[in-house]
Amino acid sequence: MAHLTGFLLFLTSLSWFALSLLPSEVSPDFVRKGSQTCKIPTPKGGKRYDCYDRKCWCTKTRANCSDNKGSLLFVPRLPRGIQFLDLSYDNLSTIPQDFFANVTNLTSVSLSNNFIASIAEGAFEALKRLEVVFLDNNFHLTGEVLKPVFESKTLKCVDLRYGKLKTLPKNAYESPNLEEFYFHDEKVTVLNFSGFESVTKLRLLDWSGNYVKQIVPGLMRKLEILDLSNNPLSSFPDTCNAKAASFFPRLTLLNLKNNQIHSVPSQLCLPRLQHLDLSGNLLQYMSPNTFHLALFPQLNKLYLEAMDIHIKNIDAFAFNNTHLKSISLMYDNLKFSDEESIAKDSFAGCLNLKGLQLSSNVFSGVSDERFLGLFGNLTRLDTIYMGKTSLERISVRTFAKFPRLKSLFLYLNKITVIPDGAFAGNPLLEELNLNDNHVTTVTRTTFTDANRHSLKQLDLSGNPFSCDCDLRWFSDWLRSNKTLFKHSRSSYNCSNLHQEVASFTMPDQACLLSRDTSEFIVVSVSLLLMAMTLVSAVFRYRWHIRLLLYEVFRGRDDVRRRRLEEGNFDYDVFVSYASEDLPWVYATVMPELEHRLGLRLCVHERDFIPGKNIVDNIADCVESSKKILVVFSNHFLHSQWCQFELAYCLRHVMDYDDALIVVCLGDVASRDLTSSMMAVMKTTTYIQWVDDDDAIASFWGRLQMALQEVVPNRT
Ligand SMILES: *[C@@H]1O[C@H](CO)[C@@H](O)[C@H](O)[C@H]1NC(C)=O
Ligand SMILES: *[C@@H]1O[C@H](CO)[C@@H](O)[C@H](O)[C@H]1NC(C)=O
Ligand SMILES: *[C@@H]1O[C@H](CO)[C@@H](O)[C@H](O)[C@H]1NC(C)=O
Ligand SMILES: *[C@@H]1O[C@H](CO)[C@@H](O)[C@H](O)[C@H]1NC(C)=O
Ligand SMILES: *[C@@H]1O[C@H](CO)[C@@H](O)[C@H](O)[C@H]1NC(C)=O
Ligand SMILES: *[C@@H]1O[C@H](CO)[C@@H](O)[C@H](O)[C@H]1NC(C)=O
Ligand SMILES: *[C@@H]1O[C@H](CO)[C@@H](O)[C@H](O)[C@H]1NC(C)=O
Ligand SMILES: *[C@@H]1O[C@H](CO)[C@@H](O)[C@H](O)[C@H]1NC(C)=O
Ligand SMILES: *[C@@H]1O[C@H](CO)[C@@H](O)[C@H](O)[C@H]1NC(C)=O
Repeated sequence: MAHLTGFLLFLTSLSWFALSLLPSEVSPDFVRKGSQTCKIPTPKGGKRYDCYDRKCWCTKTRANCSDNKGSLLFVPRLPRGIQFLDLSYDNLSTIPQDFFANVTNLTSVSLSNNFIASIAEGAFEALKRLEVVFLDNNFHLTGEVLKPVFESKTLKCVDLRYGKLKTLPKNAYESPNLEEFYFHDEKVTVLNFSGFESVTKLRLLDWSGNYVKQIVPGLMRKLEILDLSNNPLSSFPDTCNAKAASFFPRLTLLNLKNNQIHSVPSQLCLPRLQHLDLSGNLLQYMSPNTFHLALFPQLNKLYLEAMDIHIKNIDAFAFNNTHLKSISLMYDNLKFSDEESIAKDSFAGCLNLKGLQLSSNVFSGVSDERFLGLFGNLTRLDTIYMGKTSLERISVRTFAKFPRLKSLFLYLNKITVIPDGAFAGNPLLEELNLNDNHVTTVTRTTFTDANRHSLKQLDLSGNPFSCDCDLRWFSDWLRSNKTLFKHSRSSYNCSNLHQEVASFTMPDQACLLSRDTSEFIVVSVSLLLMAMTLVSAVFRYRWHIRLLLYEVFRGRDDVRRRRLEEGNFDYDVFVSYASEDLPWVYATVMPELEHRLGLRLCVHERDFIPGKNIVDNIADCVESSKKILVVFSNHFLHSQWCQFELAYCLRHVMDYDDALIVVCLGDVASRDLTSSMMAVMKTTTYIQWVDDDDAIASFWGRLQMALQEVVPNRT
């Protein structure tokens, strides 16, 4: 048994090793769109054809002359109807005055990823309908060079991302139709809204990744989206003019991520703001009403992520805003057990919250009372992220206050047990991620019927499942539903067996036994379990298990006695031995048993009927003998026939509740024993033959005792 235990330990350590290789963190709902740019107004798709000397291909409205890397430095004549022209990656460095003479009907043009260092005066004048221009990734541009571009008064969208611009030309502030301006990753230090006042249609301004330290305020009548992320701003931009009217009456999205802002002002004029990102700033104290409804009357989504060590305090009613729908505090390393720094009522007053992103904070040591004190009144929550928070336990109370909960993410925590009915209060739960925790079992009662009906995605992968009788139900469930279990079923492994949960099975009988009977049976059942995991092991240990079970349940002698009394026997004893041991049987056993004790022996070499099938011979001989004597020896060990005989005899004695009589001839190397022999030797007292007078006398005495039932009574 020792080596089995060792094997189990080895497997367990293997699975722990595998667990340390964990997947990375994701939270789809809270991921926002990456860098956007202008949309090309002409439709995509359509049939492509070569439209200029293999250097351009066209569709009905688009011409693509990109990627010519210097072999096409002018614009060829193109088919009528072309509205969008792509000239990116063409190694263009100068744009001459007549550059667009062949394509005056363009509405959009891309000059991105070139080396443009000069643009002739009037070059863009020919493009009377130009709306969209891409000039991103041109590192030699300067404000002065760009002047001719902004001469075009029809422009709606300009993309100037990833240059090295320090200024904009004066006329950029005079584009009457400009709606979207993408200007991120440049080197401008001042953002002059006052200058942009005459760009009256500006709706989107992406000014992220600049060096903006100073903002000159100005009325941005139509501005809806303002991205100022990744700048060194040290304070929140001014939003109210002297008369307490808003500079940004239509602003809905304000991205201030990764600046150096210390606080949120106590007066703000952002009447339409819905989406505010203050992640990665230096906010330390969130005092009561920091995000109050009066300051942010339309605020919907609030991001306060990755402030890491900076947030020191969240006071009661910090988020006192009934309009708030979601808050993200991801990556803030907040210790929610610390009642000093995070007030019990921090989340009071935002009763309409639906989404809460709390991943990558610390929830270890947070009791149910504390958790419910903090979040228990947020009964409208439908999405909670609490991945990677060192959460150790959940109870039936933890999530019971969230009847509308649809998505719950608890991945990469330290949860060991999912209590029965842990999600009973969440009958609408659709998505549950509990992957990479320390959960060992899931049973029929873990989830309620309502849970099982509503769940659409369940991720329990990467947990150290203990594959035993209790897990059978889960294993069946895992197998039966491929859509529910999002992760490949190969990431559900047994920690105790070298096996996947989905391929783990267990017969009903084995499980019934293990529940009701003694520890002894449990041991043999686990032996059986092991045996089933490795087919070879099944074969090897089959007799152990049967014999052990047989020994335990063997009780009454009736069957045996009745057989002896009623049976019709030709022989008293069937002797099973290896042919190499025949001389010993002939010279020693036969004289003693046949002549002295008067027993009739069935001995293979003498009594088997020639010409008859050997299997039948064995069967007949066994059936017509009262007892079976087996001579174990190294020869017996290595003989196939002997092993067959032994198997047959074992079955026979079990059927009749009898036992084999075993004598051991010489040292039988226990290391080499076949499993059935080992099983027999462990469960039967065998009689050892030793070649010395005293021992011989004892040998015959013991053998006679063992044969007592069949030794004829002699007076
Ligand atoms: C133009 O073609 C290049 C490759 O030839 C491709 O990478 C690029 O996306 C195309 N441009 C447009 C706007 O379809
Ligand atoms: C185009 O520009 C690339 C990048 O600078 C350069 O490697 C390549 O040699 C240029 N090709 C020509 C034909 O000028
Ligand atoms: C117009 O295209 C033709 C060839 O298609 C070319 O020879 C001519 O130079 C182009 N004109 C300009 C101004 O680039
Ligand atoms: C531009 O469009 C007009 C009509 O919309 C057409 O007459 C003219 O030929 C077009 N020019 C080019 C260069 O395609
Ligand atoms: C901002 O623009 C206004 C109007 O064009 C101008 O008067 C002012 O000098 C500019 N301020 C700065 C700091 O550039
Ligand atoms: C929370 O806001 C409401 C109004 O929105 C206000 O009446 C209440 O006093 C605020 N609570 C605290 C503690 O400031
Ligand atoms: C939750 O609501 C109860 C009763 O409405 C109130 O007593 C308690 O202070 C509230 N707790 C929080 C954290 O808002
Ligand atoms: C598998 O789970 C999905 C989602 O919960 C459910 O709609 C479907 O009926 C289930 N299929 C089976 C065979 O149980
Ligand atoms: C489960 O075991 C398989 C191999 O049996 C391994 O490839 C996989 O990584 C394991 N998965 C986990 C989550 O440990």
